[in-house]
Amino acid sequence: MKLPGKSRYKRVLLKLSGEVLQNRETRLSIDPHTVRTVAKRIQAARAMGVQIAVVIGGGNIFRGGVGQALGIDRNTGDYMGMLATVINALALQDALEKSGVATRVQTAIEMKEIAEPFIRRRALRHLEKGRVVIFGGGTGNPYFTTDSAAALRASEIGAAALLKATKVDGVYSDDPAQNPKARRYRSLTFQQALTSRLKVMDSAAFSLCMENNIPIIVFDFFKTGNIERVLAGQPVGTLVKNI
Ligand code: GTP
Repeated sequence: MKLPGKSRYKRVLLKLSGEVLQNRETRLSIDPHTVRTVAKRIQAARAMGVQIAVVIGGGNIFRGGVGQALGIDRNTGDYMGMLATVINALALQDALEKSGVATRVQTAIEMKEIAEPFIRRRALRHLEKGRVVIFGGGTGNPYFTTDSAAALRASEIGAAALLKATKVDGVYSDDPAQNPKARRYRSLTFQQALTSRLKVMDSAAFSLCMENNIPIIVFDFFKTGNIERVLAGQPVGTLVKNI
């Protein structure tokens, strides 16, 4: 299939879970080959002329929930998770720059020796200059997920869409792994997702997008050409929007 040329969106926020960097067979948290693949996907998207900001999770390294199971305090566990997202942001930055894509990492928790602190207006300037801006450190606060960080940053930078990259190809009426009759929604309104109790993102993230009128596109990031198709406005995955 011929791949599309130009993005219909001026600026998007791409939410990646930390697991996208992981090798599920070798269990390597940050697999160099996988990170390169992720970088290539972002590079291809960038070539369509869209401004891209990325929020990456940290679950491949540390999860707050696992910390709790080990008896680690929730707040501490969440901070450990935020640090994990910074490690991932740096790994992604390295791979992107090796592919020739200019990037800047900004962190929600100040660690100036490692990266720039999050400064909204500065992030906007980087984006305008064509740099991919990677936001690390989540929201900088415990009790929030990186989905919430993605919705927050998407709102702050005025993203035209939040692209939620997943391993499944959209939002289903039921768990497709359990129920063979589960069907994928091509498009949903925020209201329908709420009424049908469909889990698109956690509720804080979901309401931020709904209130700020930021469509969410849930799609399979690993399928070749998918991110380009999403940016071209082709029906890929599930689109969640206001009316
Ligand atoms: P423009 O001036 O808009 O072109 O942006 P710039 O990011 O190139 O400007 P600057 O000269 O501020 O930054 C140069 C490099 O230093 C970039 O790689 C930045 O990411 C990095 N940098 C800037 N501020 C900080 C900081 O507070 N901490 C760290 N670790 N790096 C920084």
